[in-house]
Amino acid sequence: MTRDPGAAPELVVMVGVPGCGKSTWVAEHLAATHAVVSKDHWPNARHRELRQRRMVDELLAAGRSIVVDNTNPTPADRASLIESARAHGVPARAVHVDAPLEVCLARNAAREGRGRVPERAVLSIHRRLVPPSVAEGFQRVDVVRG
Ligand SMILES: Nc1ncnc2c1ncn2[C@@H]1O[C@H](COP(=O)(O)OP(=O)(O)OP(=O)(O)O)[C@@H](O)[C@H]1O
Ligand SMILES: [Mg+2]
Repeated sequence: MTRDPGAAPELVVMVGVPGCGKSTWVAEHLAATHAVVSKDHWPNARHRELRQRRMVDELLAAGRSIVVDNTNPTPADRASLIESARAHGVPARAVHVDAPLEVCLARNAAREGRGRVPERAVLSIHRRLVPPSVAEGFQRVDVVRG
């Protein structure tokens, strides 16, 4: 993981239902330049939310660019991340990976082991998902096809 010394740090918040292709997009577009933070890295840990928040704050304090690779479906899920970015004077960008529900369901069903989540979780997050907006505090919102 390297960082372009000329690039200003940013916080990227991924948004999208399980199986839409967030982690794949991150690996292709940001893994070389951004520290990847995800609650998925600690599937069994308690206080995953707090742990993630602490890691985001530490990395921002160190001047790193970060991408938070979770489903982050609602403004409430994203608010503390936007707040951390603001506290460190770093712009927050949302990347909404938008793939059709049937595609997400099919990709999830094709996954092996822990990567696969219950179908009801895909449906529930799809139902709750609110597309990210500048009004929430993001400097920029990108929508990409998963
Ligand atoms: N653009 C794409 N075209 C075809 N297959 C894709 C594409 N993007 C992702 N996939 C495949 O779909 C599956 C799910 O992708 P991925 O793990 O990136 O989703 P995710 O959004 O990170 O899911 P989760 O929220 O559960 O972590 C993987 O098997 C991946 O290889
Ligand atoms: Mg993922």
